[in-house]
Amino acid sequence: MKKNIRNLISNVKKNGYGVLPGVLSKKYCGRVINKLEKILKILKKRKKYFGSNKNQVIYNYFYHDIKLINLVCNKYIDKVMTELIDEDYVLISPAARNPRLLDDKTAGKKTSGFGWHVDSRVIDKNNNSLLKPSINFFAIIALEDFTNYNAATKYIPNSHKFYKKPINRNQKIKFKNMTAETGSIIFLDTALWHSVGEPTKISRWSIFNMYGPWYMKPYYRFTDLLEKNKVKKLTKNAKKILHFYSIPPLNSEGVLTTLKKIKK
Ligand SMILES: [Fe+2]
Repeated sequence: MKKNIRNLISNVKKNGYGVLPGVLSKKYCGRVINKLEKILKILKKRKKYFGSNKNQVIYNYFYHDIKLINLVCNKYIDKVMTELIDEDYVLISPAARNPRLLDDKTAGKKTSGFGWHVDSRVIDKNNNSLLKPSINFFAIIALEDFTNYNAATKYIPNSHKFYKKPINRNQKIKFKNMTAETGSIIFLDTALWHSVGEPTKISRWSIFNMYGPWYMKPYYRFTDLLEKNKVKKLTKNAKKILHFYSIPPLNSEGVLTTLKKIKK
């Protein structure tokens, strides 16, 4: 494993997150943003879910343009998730997000991410303790700079070591901003206490992909969501990440295992 990936993994373990800069070019990020703006327009026109005029959210963005699957399957994400989870890791939730204030009459609906929270699972409801160690991690792609002036994700340093869910989402606590340059990927432990920054008029498009182990249910049924002609365009690795090789057998009359190993 290359040294920068090794450093990144140790940063995720030590600090709850790590930044890999310069993964995607500014030009490519610009092209993705153009596509996302077009998808957003269509969603609004069709009165579909697009988040709100405070925080625009496009779930399953690759459903609208299958080429965007390249934001889910990337060789760097692959290396890091294989290390943090294992080689059978899968996608749990994909969303393009922009906490941006729009002068728009269509207010939209409530969005997730505001206030102090974790995205890991509580395993003991009596004391709000989380799975330890974490089994879910985000790869957050900064399609634009995350700065102190455009709602960079806020986090509480070292809070991933508590393995506890914050009780009060609106608690006033000392925090830091997760800054990153365009084209970087931020890898985040879902046990780290974090929140969306305060939305501004400055755009901050980003991709939030959460990954997990193959036996965890995804937020959406990707295997049914995509039409056959779109599935045909997927690589084996993309299909693995979208749960195509970890669907339980229908009954006990054939293969009895759920996980089907693929050769990369
Ligand atoms: Fe979150």
